[in-house]
Amino acid sequence: MADTIIRNATIIDGTGADRFVGDVAVDDGHITEVGDTSGSATQEIDATGLVLAPGFVDVHTHDDGALLLHPDMEFKISQGCTSVVVGNCGFSAIPAVPGEPTLDLSGMQAEWRDLDGYRQNVEKSTPAVNAMMLVGHNTIRSLEMGSDRRPPSDAELERMRHHVQLAMEQGACGFSSGLIYRPGRWSDTEEVLELAKVIAPYDGIYATHMRNENDYLLEAVDEALEIGERAGIAVQISHHKAAGRRNWGKVKDSLAKVDAAVANGARVTLDVYPYTAGSGPMIQYFDLDNPNPELATAIQLASCPAYRQYEGRMLVDVAEELEISVTEAVRHILTAPEGKNTICIQHIMDEGDIVSNLRHERVMIGSDGIPDLAGKPHPRLFGTFPRVLGRYVREQGVLGLESAVRRMTSLSCDVHGLQDRGRIVEGNWADLVLFDPNVVADVATYEDPKRESAGIRNVWVNGQLAFQESLHTQIGAGKVLSYRKH
Ligand code: ZN
Ligand code: CU
Repeated sequence: MADTIIRNATIIDGTGADRFVGDVAVDDGHITEVGDTSGSATQEIDATGLVLAPGFVDVHTHDDGALLLHPDMEFKISQGCTSVVVGNCGFSAIPAVPGEPTLDLSGMQAEWRDLDGYRQNVEKSTPAVNAMMLVGHNTIRSLEMGSDRRPPSDAELERMRHHVQLAMEQGACGFSSGLIYRPGRWSDTEEVLELAKVIAPYDGIYATHMRNENDYLLEAVDEALEIGERAGIAVQISHHKAAGRRNWGKVKDSLAKVDAAVANGARVTLDVYPYTAGSGPMIQYFDLDNPNPELATAIQLASCPAYRQYEGRMLVDVAEELEISVTEAVRHILTAPEGKNTICIQHIMDEGDIVSNLRHERVMIGSDGIPDLAGKPHPRLFGTFPRVLGRYVREQGVLGLESAVRRMTSLSCDVHGLQDRGRIVEGNWADLVLFDPNVVADVATYEDPKRESAGIRNVWVNGQLAFQESLHTQIGAGKVLSYRKH
């Protein structure tokens, strides 16, 4: 007898193939039958009218700390996500120094040094979802060089190489950079290339938050492609966007560049989140001596430990209330105690560019959510996947449902080496989501962002029921996965 049989589901298998109606049986963590099942099961579910898909993979997350701090991962499970890729934008929870804060966006106290140690800690906390690690350039550089604005010495470069190699040995899927952030921005192409080369023998991926996402977007794409070509590795362009009104529309040019590189044999993929605002650590976006007034007027406050009452508000409104200029408001917030922990939201993108990204077959879905639940996080943390399925598939017809699911599942697993996942086929791990295609939608907003989405019925992780009709089962079946390993 199987553990679970899901009957009469509209199966979208993750490959991009057309949907079909059938049953799926799950036993001992795996999919054991697809199509007509004759046997019976401990739990049987009638899925008439509902879509059964492989569990979604959030390829761009900052959940390194959340897997330990919020192991129920409600904000991801409730979207149908069963796996997350952590360590993006050059910030990862490994390597670390035990007893010191991690150099990722969570800054939690580390109890590990490397990926093996992190894996042990995370699995002890029994997270709801699976995770795959990228090792981050900013983290490695901070560890070996602090905040120094100079090239590394040969000895420092060698130590940084060693961190990358150790992470790959222990199952990371690749190396990430965040070249817009400190200290990554102090590195030149050669430094990043030298570290990227380390992942070539493992055929790992180079995931990059590029050096520029506004006026020099196309030059930044050139740099990413150059690193991929010279190191002989696959490139993953993170949260592809063109920021600032004068750059809107450039996403098409940058996608054309990617297409040309792919036609020449390069391996390049991208990810996108379906919102016209970005989000990140506010201190990283402003020069305190000369804050950019154009950006300052586009800022909304997400997490503001110094002034919780400002969370959710536009900075211009706060400035008006305080009777100061918007650039003075930037300094007021960032120089306050704990000001450097402020997370902001920047309303700087174009709806048309999101559509261009979503229509492109090499673009996957990644939330880039920052799981600081104390504030008012960008709604992408809770809403990304249902928003693509509701707003862009059902309401606007920007992309087909099969195509959207493929770019949340099989493509994501293939690129990031989540072995035996991302497709509904016999023998694969039973990471599954059952949803109502007529209802699925994001509910989280900028004003009220911590709201779980609508239309997600059931979610299974490694064959275990993690979510049922808006109830979190707290089964904690997630694992820290190893690149391309069974
Ligand atoms: Zn980023
Ligand atoms: Cu990111």
